Amino acid sequence: MVEGLPASGVPAAQVLAEVRRLRAADRPTHGGQLFAYVYDPAVPGLDELAHSAYALSAQVNGLDPTAFPSLLAMENALVGAAASVLGGGPGSSAPEVVGSVTGGGTESLMLAVKTARDACADVEAPRLVVPATAHAAFAKAAHYLGVVLDLVPVSPETLRPDPADIAAAIGPSTVLVACSAPSYAHGVVDPVAAIAEVAAAAGVRCHVDACFGGWTLPYLRRLGVAVPPFDFSVPGVTSISVDLHKYAYTPKGVSVLLHRDAGLRREQYFASAEWPGYTMVNPVISSTRSGGPIAAAFATLRHIGDTGYLELARTTLAAVRGLAEEVAGIDGLRLLAEPEATVVCFRSADPALDLFVLVDELTVRGWHTQPQMAYGNLPSSVHLTVTAAVAPRVADFGADLRAAVAAARAAGPVRLPAELLALAGALTPEQLTPELVAGMAAGLGVGGAAGAGGDPVAAEDGSGSSAPLPERTAMINTLLDAAPVRLRERLLVEFLSLLQRPSY
Ligand SMILES: Cc1ncc(COP(=O)(O)O)c(C=O)c1O
Repeated sequence: MVEGLPASGVPAAQVLAEVRRLRAADRPTHGGQLFAYVYDPAVPGLDELAHSAYALSAQVNGLDPTAFPSLLAMENALVGAAASVLGGGPGSSAPEVVGSVTGGGTESLMLAVKTARDACADVEAPRLVVPATAHAAFAKAAHYLGVVLDLVPVSPETLRPDPADIAAAIGPSTVLVACSAPSYAHGVVDPVAAIAEVAAAAGVRCHVDACFGGWTLPYLRRLGVAVPPFDFSVPGVTSISVDLHKYAYTPKGVSVLLHRDAGLRREQYFASAEWPGYTMVNPVISSTRSGGPIAAAFATLRHIGDTGYLELARTTLAAVRGLAEEVAGIDGLRLLAEPEATVVCFRSADPALDLFVLVDELTVRGWHTQPQMAYGNLPSSVHLTVTAAVAPRVADFGADLRAAVAAARAAGPVRLPAELLALAGALTPEQLTPELVAGMAAGLGVGGAAGAGGDPVAAEDGSGSSAPLPERTAMINTLLDAAPVRLRERLLVEFLSLLQRPSY
């Protein structure tokens, strides 16, 4: 008898019912009420199409494109579309652009860093220069690849780095400079042209992380938005990443990493004939990869098409402007930046209005927003990733935001016990034992049934699928906000480790 497996097979309908029961605890992926993690175009029939295409290719293995030419053809089509959206391809100033499909933005960034690092094999201690607002995936890439990360501060007013500071940060060991178009946290486009220029002047590659907005910025520009140059039209930009599973609205697991030419891509590949099996040759980190996400992305791009994406951008732009207006009209809230892409990000401008309490008040009204901790010279904020599905909900959100602000004011700011705050400020990550974290988690009501082991589907009453976080998280967020970044990281690692327990 194997624990964790049913003794005999469970009928298909029952298994699906179990999955549905588990899914009921999740945040809503559709309907425009979740302002992070999901990208919903609200196009009728699109899910069904993508899922059918996914199913057709789910068993196909991207390990060997000669065995499965369908996958190669679909990958090349995705890369071609991404290249032309981003200023490359026939008739452009970057006709030789090549690329690969990866499993996501983080993988694309890791490969961009690896490629640049390996192209500078003579540099002993390679370094990567990015603005402090660059996505944390660069920190992960640096960590995994043994590259030192040089963070360049941004102005608290513009949320952009000064290109002169980027230039000053570049040294003889810098293998890559990267910037964002736009940044995830605030939706701000870095001064790409000036950054690429200082990188090129130093003979260093420049990667543009357009994972988040690379698919929307060109369409927003076509709608008249003043989008600064950020793509291959900018000399000095050597590679660009764009996630199709974000604003190309494909199912999860698809990003594209583009290089200006094949020579710049060479070090991305890995090959090994150093074993008795097949010679391994991989363009990306995974070896075996399912054809499902690629086929689903292929179907999605073809079904939506150029005019479809333009219309989705138009709808999203209206939603962004509407939400920004709602926020700007509320006393005590302030936009952190004028939206120039598809993020609305705001902060509290009144000490009596606690953002983390506001986030909870929105949650109880059915709106799931993303709180962001204070970092360096930047205040805590609330992030809204806006997609086309939000457009019909703007007025509802505005009304609930006003009500939530009133409720948050009435409740007042979170007051953590002074000892706990002092502990958060003074504790070092090394002092944080699993027992201490477990005690804190229990005290804060964190780590519900999903983290407690047991049979995940046994409970008919749904308790087996209860969320691991309480509905109100302001206390937790206040504690994390008070903790220095290393402690913040460690607390969340320990918390995740508490949740990741086998269930039997
Ligand atoms: C700008 C940017 N870069 C990279 C990433 C990482 O992408 P993923 O979560 O697909 O690995 C994100 C994700 O939000 C992003 O917004």
